[in-house]
Amino acid sequence: MKYKKGHFYIENVSAERIAKKFGTPVYVYSYEKIISNIYNFQKNFKTINPLICFSVKSNSNLQILNLISKLGLGADVVSKGELVRALNAKIKPEKIVFSGVGKTIEELKFAISKNILLINTESENEIVEIEKIARKSKKKINIGIRFNPDTDAKTLKNISTGKRENKFGLTKEKFLYLLKKYKNSKFVNIDCLSVHIGSQITSHVPYKNMLNAVNKIIQNSKYKFKYIDLGGGMGINYENNSHKLNYYKYKNLIKSFLKKNNSKIIFEPGRSIIGNAGYLISKIIYIKHTKSKNFVILDSAMNDLIRPALYGAKHRIIPSKLNNKKIKKKHEFVGPICETTDKFLSVDRYQKINQRDIVLICDVGAYGMVLSSNYNLRPKPPEILINKSSAKIITKRQKLNNII
Ligand code: LLP
Repeated sequence: MKYKKGHFYIENVSAERIAKKFGTPVYVYSYEKIISNIYNFQKNFKTINPLICFSVKSNSNLQILNLISKLGLGADVVSKGELVRALNAKIKPEKIVFSGVGKTIEELKFAISKNILLINTESENEIVEIEKIARKSKKKINIGIRFNPDTDAKTLKNISTGKRENKFGLTKEKFLYLLKKYKNSKFVNIDCLSVHIGSQITSHVPYKNMLNAVNKIIQNSKYKFKYIDLGGGMGINYENNSHKLNYYKYKNLIKSFLKKNNSKIIFEPGRSIIGNAGYLISKIIYIKHTKSKNFVILDSAMNDLIRPALYGAKHRIIPSKLNNKKIKKKHEFVGPICETTDKFLSVDRYQKINQRDIVLICDVGAYGMVLSSNYNLRPKPPEILINKSSAKIITKRQKLNNII
């Protein structure tokens, strides 16, 4: 993915060609980038030999899951819908973990019927319900218990999950109480301690604090867990020169943790696998010039990509065609939706751009399409998978007729 003679290419296909052929706005993914992200992730943690369960919530496209499945990864799912999708992609049940604070009885029954690796529980009520289903179906169910380590992930507040005040997991006291109460249960095997402190983490220090807390509680409990599920959260570089997560340091922290606790590690990465493999290609509808800034009005909006509006997240926006004419004026890239937060990015200077030019919003492979909606009765964009010179539709553009 780079500029060739001034034109931006995803693998061997130019952004302009994609826009022309499929229309805009359009999500595109690079096959090769997904594979290299997976390969790098595996390489970074090779000496730990973890089970890698792709977090389906970050991107649940069936063709992408097919690829992930072919490469041997498992899945982390949070609903019946995601579980069915993962199974449809032929991800092996023995590589699927089911997370989430509020699984319904129906979802639990379904997951149990599919014999998945683990149900990671987050409350006593949930364990009680699982025991009831197990008793009826004469099965013993493998579960995890999610620990809330009260660790600050030092990321955006709205994507932090590991502090005591967050709804996720159980406090140390409650965790130890449940472990004691259910460790000899006839209906559940407590196989796993799970933990996930947040998303878009760019320093190993929060992970260090998390591992210390996990180590402490294990020593305290004197219990041997078959699996330790460390969740996901590994951050990517949305901005040039932003801080990079040091995988080497994180791996070494886990290695020394494993010297004290001999368990199989599970990871649930989402963003680090798919985030930088996706672009949202958009066309400039109008440019509105004001004294202080130029509003660049795109044909994509917060319904297509909500991260900037929801979290104040920043995604680089690059032109499909380079020129050398820099304009020293603030440019504000916005969508057409009737909300002030329908704004993608403000930059102090930008190259000269015109109405109908094509731009690419970068790093939208994770939590992009999955969070899209029909707000303002706008149809959802299509998704295209690029593999070398081939461009395949993997989700069709929604038809306006089907939503009105
Ligand atoms: N495991 C659990 C239990 C999770 O809750 C999550 C994400 C993951 C794994 C995957 O985390 P990742 O490796 O992708 O960071 N919509 C937000 C992110 C929400 C993350 C929710 N949980 C965003 O656009 O930034």
